[in-house]
Amino acid sequence: MRITLNTLQKMAQEGNRISMLTCYDASFAALLDAAGVETLLIGDSLGMVLQGHDSTLPVTLRDVVYHTACVARGAKRAFIIGDMPFGTFQLTPEDTFRNAAEIMAAGAHMVKLEGGQPMLQTIEYLTTRGIPVCGHIGLTPQSVNQLGGYRVQGKEENDARRLLEEAKSLEQAGAGMMVLEAIPAALARDITAAVRAPTIGIGAGVDCHGQVLVLHDMLDIYPGKKAKFVKNYMRAAGTVQGAVELFVKEVKAKTFPGPEHSF
Ligand code: KIV
Repeated sequence: MRITLNTLQKMAQEGNRISMLTCYDASFAALLDAAGVETLLIGDSLGMVLQGHDSTLPVTLRDVVYHTACVARGAKRAFIIGDMPFGTFQLTPEDTFRNAAEIMAAGAHMVKLEGGQPMLQTIEYLTTRGIPVCGHIGLTPQSVNQLGGYRVQGKEENDARRLLEEAKSLEQAGAGMMVLEAIPAALARDITAAVRAPTIGIGAGVDCHGQVLVLHDMLDIYPGKKAKFVKNYMRAAGTVQGAVELFVKEVKAKTFPGPEHSF
């Protein structure tokens, strides 16, 4: 049976951890589906791990639509989230809706967009018109030039307070889920306690409702630099299927991420 947003929200409320991996094609979608990964994210990380760019900024709407359609053909059970690329949601509400609708029409069940306070109206506009939205705060890679690099966010008290307030505001605006990237574990725990929408951590400690990694990072096939929060599951498991199954198992058992993957 298809996993829905309701399934994921119920899992979060009942304390059952949610596993999410990025995915960009039908073969991996089928493998991840069979291994029990509940949520597949067509992340704009595809710009780095598939296309070889040094950031996610060059990814286009066409790219995400194409890869979402591939994943949707391969996955029968998982909930599918399509990332909105840089520059495709900082538009008029109507144009943003049109772009999000293309990703949904390709087979996504939800779109994800980066940003806090400035995105609240956009989130409200989309969610009141039938498009579920996953927020993404903390380290937002599309803002790498503004942030001055891929750095941990929310370390200072003011920033931590702002992120906590932004998480609550995202939920009020209608976000049904949110990714927390590269923030201190204690802050992610406070955010997770303050919202009902599932929080999905990447470099945000073990207390989020779920965990996500970039597939090519956890399989150790991305040649670029790895963040501290990445675990190499191929080393532990030896096969692709084994690596994915071990990731799911460790997320459920709350043994990933360990302190060595957290801030
Ligand atoms: O694009 C992506 O893969 C992401 C994850 C890192 C959450 O946004």
